[in-house]
This record gives sequence, C-alpha cells and structure tokens, in this order.
Amino acid sequence: MNNRPIGVFDSGIGGMTVVRALMERLPLENIIYFGDTARVPYGIKSVETINQYAAQITSFLVKRNVKLLIVACNTMAAVALPTIKKLSKVPVLEVIEASARQAVAESRSKAIGVIGTPATINSNAYARAIHLLEKEAIIYSQACPLFVPVVEEGWFDHEATRLIAREYLKTVIAEKVDTLVLGCTHYPLLKPLLQEIMGPQIRLIDSAEAMAGIAAALLKKEGLGNTSRQKPDYLFCVTDVPHRFQMIGERFLGRALSNIELVRL
Ligand code: DGL
Repeated sequence: MNNRPIGVFDSGIGGMTVVRALMERLPLENIIYFGDTARVPYGIKSVETINQYAAQITSFLVKRNVKLLIVACNTMAAVALPTIKKLSKVPVLEVIEASARQAVAESRSKAIGVIGTPATINSNAYARAIHLLEKEAIIYSQACPLFVPVVEEGWFDHEATRLIAREYLKTVIAEKVDTLVLGCTHYPLLKPLLQEIMGPQIRLIDSAEAMAGIAAALLKKEGLGNTSRQKPDYLFCVTDVPHRFQMIGERFLGRALSNIELVRL
C-alpha cells in the first residue's frame, strides 16, 4: 500500500504547482499526475461538463491503483468534489479546504479576498469553506479568467499581466483585505507580481503549499508514507500535445520533466 503512488489531477498543466510542492515536502513519494490538456480550461465550462470530466479522471486514476487522490484543480474541487469522492475508494484531498484553513489562520482583520476561475468563484466554494472555519470572515471574491492564458504564455513578469492584474484586483484592494487566496493552480506563478500590486503587507495564500502540508499530515496520520529509500517514480499522463506539456511543465516545476504518457479517456 505505502509504495503506491499519490494521484494528482488537474484540468491541464497548472496542477504542476501542487506537484512541485509535493516533491519538495514529500520527496520519497511516487506521483502519478493527470493533466487533461486536450480539454483545458475547465474554469469557463459548465458545472455538468466539469463533473463529467472529473468523473472520467477519477476512474482513470483509481484504476492506476493510487493510495491517495489530490484534486489540484480548484475548479474541479469547487464544483465536482461529491462526484470525485463517490467514485474514489481512497482518501481525497482538495485544495480549497487547505487554502481556506491557511487563510483563516493568517488573516488578522478577517477581510479575505479570493481570486479564481469563473466556475470557482460562481460556486462560492471558498466562501463556504472559509465561513465554516470563521463565521465572522468577510469574503471579497473576484474571477480572473485572463490569468490562466497569461501564465501559460509564461508572462509572469510582463506589463500586460500587470495591467490585467491591476484591473482585476481593484475591488479587493478597495475593500482593504489583509489576505488574498490564490484560488487557482496557475496563480502561484504570479505571486511576485500579485504581491507587488497588493502591497507587501498583504498575505498571499498559495494553495499548492497549503495542499502539500495537508497531504504530509494525512500520510503520517494514516501511516501511509512511502518507506522505500528508492528514488521515487514520477509519471505524467496527458490527453494531448505532450511536448507542450513538457515545455510549460518544466517552467511550473522548475526542473526537467520526463516520463510523459499520452492517454485517452
Ligand atoms: N486548474 C484550474 C483551476 O485551478 C485552472 C485552469 C482551468 O481553468 O482549467 O481552477
């Protein structure tokens, strides 16, 4: 059981921010990543479609014998978690609760901003998760659909990204939030730029780091950590254009990427 891989899945490439955090935090664990590069982005699709895709990916990873499933994609976590949990025989962790917990722990004023894809923001999943932990919290949400393509383009420090970010963040800045949840896989790559626009005193909550911490705690609690001293195996399954996944994935991961498999669902 302990040698079985952790299954991490995303709508495409963005979940590699979670993989990176997992590799750093849990360097002995085998990981199988699924990125639906043929159908990304999910964040602008309907709840029905996102549920259908999430069910297919869950079944795929369950068949690959994973010991834990991590929903790296905020959009799927926001609108398809019951579907995923129903199909999974192993524990399921997702990014929203992880980030909500960290945001509540770090915010002093309890005025918390949340940014994400339109599907995530419309679902109100972050507001619900934060309110369950802190009734007094006031949440200001903003969908930022243009952030996904600019990140995929590699425009982490680009004037166009700065302009877009200033426009999107106007409201959360005006509401004087002290904490901003980066509620999308792609946003951690914009951290320095978002920090510059929000100001140095604002806490940015990175769902990737929060997720890795929770995964480590669960493996420890359940006694599921990999005890083998062998170099871990990493496998990346994608549904289209593996070479693009490799190119952008290396940027997300900050290291060379191999072992990419093209799969059909
Ligand atoms: N992975 C998605 C998320 O975290 C962003 C990309 C998409 O829209 O599919 O919300």
